[in-house]
Amino acid sequence: MLRLAVLASGRGSNLGALLAAIKDGRLNSQVVGVFSDRASAPALEMARQNGIPALSLDPAAYSRRRDFDEALFNEVAAVQPDLIVCAGYMRLISERAVRRCLGKMINIHPSLLPKYPGLHTHARALAAGDAESGASVHLVIPELDAGAVLAQARVPIQAGDDPAALAARILEREHPLLVACIAAIEAGDLELSEAPRWRGQMLDAPLRLNARGDLEKH
Ligand code: GRF
Repeated sequence: MLRLAVLASGRGSNLGALLAAIKDGRLNSQVVGVFSDRASAPALEMARQNGIPALSLDPAAYSRRRDFDEALFNEVAAVQPDLIVCAGYMRLISERAVRRCLGKMINIHPSLLPKYPGLHTHARALAAGDAESGASVHLVIPELDAGAVLAQARVPIQAGDDPAALAARILEREHPLLVACIAAIEAGDLELSEAPRWRGQMLDAPLRLNARGDLEKH
């Protein structure tokens, strides 16, 4: 059983997907804490309703980013997570805090990385005229959205899509993607390190989420 700490700034639908998968036995993990930079994040309320400790710290109360991160990540460390999941955590994390968690912190990002790191991914994919987009789960390293990509889910871009329509289509696949990644880590199929491994072999390209919701080598 993995002890998961989840970082979220907003809605928390990815957190909801993890909790649903734990409830119905698709995941054998436990969410041991939810952490936020926004006191009003619905993800915190969702955690509390599920009896999970939920904490937010206010970045404005700290003069330096790294002091905020140190305080937040001290709280994260206190719940002794095996894996830290950034699920819609919208703040840049300073290098020192990331280094404390190297190899055990993952993020879900709504683009096919290395395309479109950062914000406004859906609008950027549409503006570029891409035929498809998707979501990536990657290791967190100090450079934004640049860590090894573990797995991706791809979705078509359809004529008439606007950023909201594309975001909704991707979000539907984000949830099974995140669950599948954590299930694979639980099972030992996916081993995290600077050079992640899949079933004992170096992972040289992102795994793909198939229609059944399983990860496969591409
Ligand atoms: C998701 O699109 C995720 O990829 C991005 O932020 C959004 C969070 O959604 N990083 P939710 O809060 O999990 O509903």
